[in-house]
Amino acid sequence: MTAGNPLPAPDEVFDWIDVRAQARQEAGLARQLRPRAAGSDALDLASNDYLGLARDKRVAGAAAAAALKWGAGSTGSRLVTGSTELHTELELELASFCGMQAALVFSSGFMANLAAVSALTGPGTAIVADKLIHASLIDGTRLSKADVAVMGHCDVAGVTNALAKRKHERALVVTDSVFSVDGDLAPLAPLAHACGKHGAALLVDDAHGFGVIGEAGKGAVHDAGLAGSPNVVMTLTLSKSLGAQGGAILGPRRVIKHMVDHARSFIFDTGLAPGSVAAALTALRVLKEEPQLAGQARQNAFELTERLTAAGLQVSTPTAAVVSVRAPSPEAAVAWANDCRTAGVVVGCFRPPSTPDQISRPPAPDRPRRRRRPRGRLITARTASRPQGPNAGA
Ligand SMILES: Cc1ncc(COP(=O)(O)O)c(C=O)c1O
Repeated sequence: MTAGNPLPAPDEVFDWIDVRAQARQEAGLARQLRPRAAGSDALDLASNDYLGLARDKRVAGAAAAAALKWGAGSTGSRLVTGSTELHTELELELASFCGMQAALVFSSGFMANLAAVSALTGPGTAIVADKLIHASLIDGTRLSKADVAVMGHCDVAGVTNALAKRKHERALVVTDSVFSVDGDLAPLAPLAHACGKHGAALLVDDAHGFGVIGEAGKGAVHDAGLAGSPNVVMTLTLSKSLGAQGGAILGPRRVIKHMVDHARSFIFDTGLAPGSVAAALTALRVLKEEPQLAGQARQNAFELTERLTAAGLQVSTPTAAVVSVRAPSPEAAVAWANDCRTAGVVVGCFRPPSTPDQISRPPAPDRPRRRRRPRGRLITARTASRPQGPNAGA
């Protein structure tokens, strides 16, 4: 504090927040909460409920029944009172479905990622991470106090080089499988090869791949032939394809046991609520009984991309269910999203700093259960509101 610059009075202590909010507002980046109405008939292309299972009666019914049987909350940490038979059942079925030795369920995918990165590394170890990994993985690297090398996007040569040159005995390569902003797929097999060659572990966040990619939606790790590899660990969220809530780490049994002993976001966090566990377990069983769901989600994303591209929009090539459209400015992205909403189609809106390259996108994941009718509505809304000018379509 400099002389002549007095300390703020209590009612001025948070004035800096107003300054920051004003700057966000002026840059078109202010975020807004929009509570969702129950039973709206708008077409929802904004959610991550890729398979339409969140409102499936079997899934929602299982959540309700479990809440009545076990209670609304899990009542404590998994290590105290928060573990139920349902948690164990879900862990066994998730591991078996994905071809991994064991699984551990967390209260969210975010918590699972914090745990996986921080408990597998630490001071004196190396992390080699793609520059576009999810925020939860980034926060995990910060918690870890490891030496972090941030690599170019999908840069296998860079990762290989960093692993080869490192001084640390232990190294963890960290990547998303399907990147959340543009929906592109990481080169998992070459990354695993580099890890194998250079004595490193590979951590893959399969949040957007699980339930959508590969045979019956077993995920990108399975599809890349890496399920059960001794140096591969994957994380996933139960809140996207499974339409529930929660997250998980899957990998070698000793890794999972290590998480129980060391992962702070497991040990010091209330266990996932029984209703969410039951919903995820039931959705997983639906996925097994209806293996075509994953392929339908991919096909829908592909068809949506074709039609958006034909309408003149710049659309990412989907590898799973994430379809992303580039907007010329944050304001345009918001305007498109608002026009879509008026036309009865809900799309999300990613803007800086949530996008890596300052380009805004209203992403439009698609789901197998809602197909024909609304697609035309979406194209019309996007096309009608497409901005004109030098940056249009950029
Ligand atoms: C790639 C990725 N990883 C992790 C998460 C976090 O999962 P959760 O929402 O279950 O905390 C998300 C969620 O949006 C995600 O997109």
